Amino acid sequence: MSEEILVTREAGIMEIRFNRPAKKNAITNAMYGAMADALEQGDGDESVRAVLFTAEGDVFSAGNDIVDFAAIATGAAGDGPHHVGRFLWRIIAAEKPVIAAVQGHAVGVGTTMLFHCDLVYIAENAELTTPFVDLGLAPENASSLTIPARMGHARAFAMLGLGEPLLGRDAVAAGLANAALPAAEVEPRARAAANALAKKPAQSLKLTKSLMRDRETLLARVRQESALFAERLRSDEARAAFAAFLSRR
Ligand code: COA
Repeated sequence: MSEEILVTREAGIMEIRFNRPAKKNAITNAMYGAMADALEQGDGDESVRAVLFTAEGDVFSAGNDIVDFAAIATGAAGDGPHHVGRFLWRIIAAEKPVIAAVQGHAVGVGTTMLFHCDLVYIAENAELTTPFVDLGLAPENASSLTIPARMGHARAFAMLGLGEPLLGRDAVAAGLANAALPAAEVEPRARAAANALAKKPAQSLKLTKSLMRDRETLLARVRQESALFAERLRSDEARAAFAAFLSRR
C-alpha cells in the first residue's frame, strides 16, 4: 500500500485520500495501484457502503505524474505492471456510490475521474483542467464521452480542445458537481453526503447506480482512448511537452 494514498474505513465509508501534497497529489503508478486495490476491496466488502475521495493539501490532484509519463515516453519505465488501467476500470465499474471532495486544482485524470463519481462537492475557486492536447496526448478515462455528455460539445471542447479550465463555481451548471462551496465546507459536506448514503438500503442503492451508468460503453471508450494515448505518449509532441514541464525551473 502506497503511503501517498491513505485508505481508511469508518462507519461504512471507505475514504481514499491523496496524500502527496508536496507534489500537488500528482499520481504515480504505485498510487494508481493502491487506489485500484482499495476500490476492489470496497466492492468486495459488505461493510463498505460508500467510497469518499479526498485530498491532503491545497490541490485535489495534479493528475498523472509527469515524471512517470516522461519515463514511458523515453522507454525508461521498465516492464513492471502499469496500474492506471486497473484504476480506470475499477472506478468505472465501482458498485458502491463514489463521492468526491475537490479543492484547488484538479488536472487530467484528477478531473476525468470526477465524471465517474456519483456526487461531487467542489470549492467555488477550484479549477478543473484537461490539458491533454497541450501535452500532445489524447483524452483518457472515457472523458471524450463523459465530458460532452454532461455539458454539451461546445463547453466540452473548450476543456478538451482549448484546455480552458472549468471553474468550481460553474461546475454545478455544467452538470459535474452537486454544490460549489467555500473551500472549508467542501470536505464536511461530502462526508455528510457519504454518511447519508451509507445509511441507505445497500442493495437498492447498488442497483440504482448500476442502472444509471452504462459501464460497457464507458469501458469500450476507455479501450479505444487508451490505445491512442499509449501511442501519443511516445510522440514528439508529448516528449517536448514533458521536457518543457520538467525543465520549468
Ligand atoms: N507530475 C509531477 N510533478 C508535479 C505534477 C505532475 N503532474 N504537478 C505538480 N508537480 C510538482 C512540481 O513539479 C513541483 O515539484 P517541485 O516542488 O519538486 O519543483 C510541485 O509539484 C509543486 O508544483 P507547482 O507547479 O509549483 O504548484 P502550483 O501550485 O504552482 O501549481 C498545478 C499546481 C497543479 C496547477 C501545477 O503543478 C500543474 O499544472 N501541474 C501539472 C499538471 C499536469 O499537466 N498534469 C498532467 C495531466 S495529464
